[in-house]
Amino acid sequence: MTTRQRVLSGIQPSGKLTLGNYIGAMKNFVALQHEHDCFYMIVDLHAITVPQDPAALREQSEAVAALFVAAGLDPTQASIFMQSHVPAHAELGWLLTTMTYMGELERMTQFKDKSEGKEAVGAGLFVYPSLMAADILLYRSHLVPVGDDQKQHLELTRDLAGRFNHRYGETLVVPEPFIPKVGARIMSLDDASKKMSKSSPNAGSFITLLDTPDEIRKKISRAKTDLGRDVLFDVQNKPEVSNLMTIYAQCSGQTLEQIQATYEGQGYGAFKKDLAEVVVQALEPLQSKYKDIRASGEIHHILREGAERANTVAEVTLREVKEAMGFLPRGGH
Ligand code: TYM
Repeated sequence: MTTRQRVLSGIQPSGKLTLGNYIGAMKNFVALQHEHDCFYMIVDLHAITVPQDPAALREQSEAVAALFVAAGLDPTQASIFMQSHVPAHAELGWLLTTMTYMGELERMTQFKDKSEGKEAVGAGLFVYPSLMAADILLYRSHLVPVGDDQKQHLELTRDLAGRFNHRYGETLVVPEPFIPKVGARIMSLDDASKKMSKSSPNAGSFITLLDTPDEIRKKISRAKTDLGRDVLFDVQNKPEVSNLMTIYAQCSGQTLEQIQATYEGQGYGAFKKDLAEVVVQALEPLQSKYKDIRASGEIHHILREGAERANTVAEVTLREVKEAMGFLPRGGH
């Protein structure tokens, strides 16, 4: 029997969610929900570290919340909520910002990528990782299911938890990343040296969870493949095909060896044709559930209940953190 642990993770409501978000993170959100005490949020406070159109932010927030449920999260098992509905995130974010070193933030590759070549870079983008640390530490989370690209932020979170406990006494839990063995980094369909990302200017480079079957077929048929014709998993020498095989494995439940055996001697054409159908079939139930949830309007109720449960836990941690740091309690007696 596994012991019940606290789990927290978050996804940004910017743009549409991709197959990378699903395979790298959401599949594990779902897998962990029955055995652990799970909190999953839509990180709208993080989204505004780059400019957002208010109407689009509202729509995307609701869409991502509905996708959480459509992907298999059960709101009676896991708490699903908006980050901005729990004020403790912004407050602990500030407290931790004061304990984060500039050098630590300057080293973050996500900051470097997102600020590169930009003239005006918001300060929020720079201190983004301190807010992310607050997200995780507020729930005293043991496990944080994320894709490979969030590893560095998790390391900083662990350092901040340790720093806090060292300065002010044992208060916070040092969390562990929970990263899938296969699929932690789904790559772009047009370039296997870049991760699949919804912010890519080429819409053919990523598959979103709401793409139509025809869009999916078209994108996969145009996906770049390596020289040769053998369907072999070899990340060094066949990065493009290995990425497609990873997607196949994650969407079908088959192992890489099984896939390799099935397509031996068949070439890329047959493999890509089947891959498209595997992805279409994996997303079909999610897409039909998504439509039902959006039509029902039940997402508002789910988010309200999730925020209530999240606030209850977060307020206790925040109070203890402030007490440990020497803030005067609000009195009363
Ligand atoms: P975000 O919104 O960019 O991505 C959400 C999750 O999807 C994973 N992911 C991928 N996994 C595999 N392959 C890909 N191509 C791929 N693209 C994205 C990400 O690793 C992530 O797990 N900073 C976070 C959001 C966040 C958060 C948190 C996460 C804010 N606070 C607290 C965990 C805990 C982010 O921008 O994720």
